[in-house]
Amino acid sequence: MPMRSLPGFRDFLPDECARRNYIFARWREVARRYGFLEWEGPPLEATELYKKKSGAEIVDQLFNFTDKGDREVALRPELTPTLARVVAMHEREFKKPLKWFSIGQFFRYEKQQRGRLREHFQLNCDIIGEKDLAADIELVALCTDLLRAFALTEKDFVVRISDREFWTDFLREKDVPVERWDEFLQAIDKFGREPREKTAEKLGKLADPVFTTLKSGGNSEKLGKLVDDLSGRGLADFVSIDIGIVRGLAYYTGIVFEVFDRARKFRAIAGGGRYDNLIGQLSDGTVSLPALGFAMGDVVLGELIQEIPQVSQIMEKSIAKVRRIDIYVVIAKEERRADALKQIQQLRDRGFLVDYPLTPTKVARQFQAAEEAGASLAVLYGDEWPRLKIKNMATGQQGLIPQENLNDYAAARL
Ligand code: HAM
Repeated sequence: MPMRSLPGFRDFLPDECARRNYIFARWREVARRYGFLEWEGPPLEATELYKKKSGAEIVDQLFNFTDKGDREVALRPELTPTLARVVAMHEREFKKPLKWFSIGQFFRYEKQQRGRLREHFQLNCDIIGEKDLAADIELVALCTDLLRAFALTEKDFVVRISDREFWTDFLREKDVPVERWDEFLQAIDKFGREPREKTAEKLGKLADPVFTTLKSGGNSEKLGKLVDDLSGRGLADFVSIDIGIVRGLAYYTGIVFEVFDRARKFRAIAGGGRYDNLIGQLSDGTVSLPALGFAMGDVVLGELIQEIPQVSQIMEKSIAKVRRIDIYVVIAKEERRADALKQIQQLRDRGFLVDYPLTPTKVARQFQAAEEAGASLAVLYGDEWPRLKIKNMATGQQGLIPQENLNDYAAARL
């Protein structure tokens, strides 16, 4: 079926587009509340950028090809390597720490399943140039508030927080060579998502101590301080420490976190952490800056919103508000069309949202269209000219005004 979209790719019809924009608007609003600035990178990058540091899983999922100039390129599967590249290039132009956010579309050749598509949108929020734990805490608070902005509560989601250093200390203690750390971290990351025997096989001798540690739940001073600080902000109920969180991406170095729905019905809503070495590695050591961030996807978040009636009603109400127009112009007599169009132009110039029938249409159908468009006022051009019949669509009240008063009338009432 050549007329269908490719598997894992969505068409956004107006309703879906409105829901997506609702999500984007909340994301922007809250990121700005935290003083983050918006930026954007290109959707296509050199494949090498991801091979260098994202980790095997993402490289397997690349949408990549050779372009007409024989360059190996890939549609971006994530933003972090681009951010590291851009920061390394422009580092001197900005005072640190940078607090940047970005909303864009990403592409991963994944097996299509619930919550996983081949394209999705992400909000990325990153802080560059701050090594203090205060930045990690601020980021977790931001991530929590982003979801609270959709009226989601501590009953709906939880931020699970861990520290990769906890595991790297553990591996160092067990004399595991550094080159093999990534392999072990990936195996621990998969614990719970694949059969226990498979994880045990990958961990070899370390299987028992790892399983014991996961069961007893590790803790650290750093994680304790983080939770204390979040408690001070009144956000304690939204977070929990879970050292089983390791994250699949290879570049993380410290605090990492993932957000899940409480019912554990869906995949992760968001994930991120500290990646203090990535900028240095991508710039071959020319720029070295600590960094941390997270990304929240639109797919799982959208599903969670739909799942909770109070939360989805708030979204639908907000969308209805955004979709409505101010004035529907009813052209009852075709001789008045030119007069109506002249005034429509003036109303639109003043910023009113105005619609009208493009071709001759029965008056009843026009009122129906006014209602469907959620117009506040219907203005009728007909036998009453040079006066206009005005109908308040909410109350049904009608009246007559001289046509030259329409702009002022609308300005006073809308
Ligand atoms: P990630 O965990 O790979 O992190 O993705 C972040 C979020 O994007 C996931 O929690 C999920 O909601 C969504 N997501 C990922 N892949 C898909 C997919 N195929 N379909 C639908 N949604 C998806 C990163 O990408 C890191 N770069 C985040 C980061 C920013 N770390 C530091 N700064």
